[in-house]
Amino acid sequence: MKNIIDALNWRYATKAYDTNKKLSDEQLLTLIESVRLTPSSYGLPVYKVIHVKDAETREKLKAVAWGQPQITDASDLFVFAVKTDLNDTSVDEYMSLISTTRNAPIESLNEFSGMIKGTLNSLSSEHKEAWASRQAYIALGTLLTTAALHEIDATPMEGFTTTKFDEILGLNELNLKSVVVCALGYRSENDTYASLAKVRESKENIFIEK
Ligand SMILES: Cc1cc2nc3c(=O)[nH]c(=O)nc-3n(C[C@H](O)[C@H](O)[C@H](O)COP(=O)(O)O)c2cc1C
Repeated sequence: MKNIIDALNWRYATKAYDTNKKLSDEQLLTLIESVRLTPSSYGLPVYKVIHVKDAETREKLKAVAWGQPQITDASDLFVFAVKTDLNDTSVDEYMSLISTTRNAPIESLNEFSGMIKGTLNSLSSEHKEAWASRQAYIALGTLLTTAALHEIDATPMEGFTTTKFDEILGLNELNLKSVVVCALGYRSENDTYASLAKVRESKENIFIEK
């Protein structure tokens, strides 16, 4: 495993993948665990990740993602999708999960449950989706960092038509909406982007000391 700063310098948004190199089951499990262990607001599960394995489906997705080759050429493709039906039942299910995981009486969670329901019910559906998206992006960040530490190449991607992705993946029926994608695999030797210098502002420009 790389040192964290070396890893973050090593990674780049990969444009061309080596189609012959695939991630192992063990690597995939590490990436999946990194997403699973990502924190979210209240710990509420508000998104799903679709691991798209079918080559034909990935061809269809590429057509509605500006033809970006990473969609088909990377070893694996994760689509982050937010839940569009977040309601009191979602909170009750989460309370049951806490109760069984921690062996805690469900009644001891009433106050916590009420607080989350209060927050959810105060939000419009657009606001709820935006909030859920922010949680999904935290998972995307964890995934990108984990991939880099393990020298796995990755591309975060927003360049796709979400409604078309939803249609192709049948997400509407699952009460889900795609928000962001991550391609994962190994860079092609011919990817000229790999050797470009990283463009970032100085830390003095990013951080404001008060
Ligand atoms: C949320 C998000 C969406 C992005 N969408 C795309 C995309 O659709 N296609 C692509 O090639 N790169 C995409 N990028 C990559 C960025 O352009 C890239 O991360 C940025 O220019 C910094 O370069 P680096 O990641 O190579 O250091 C995206 C990055 C993020 C974080």
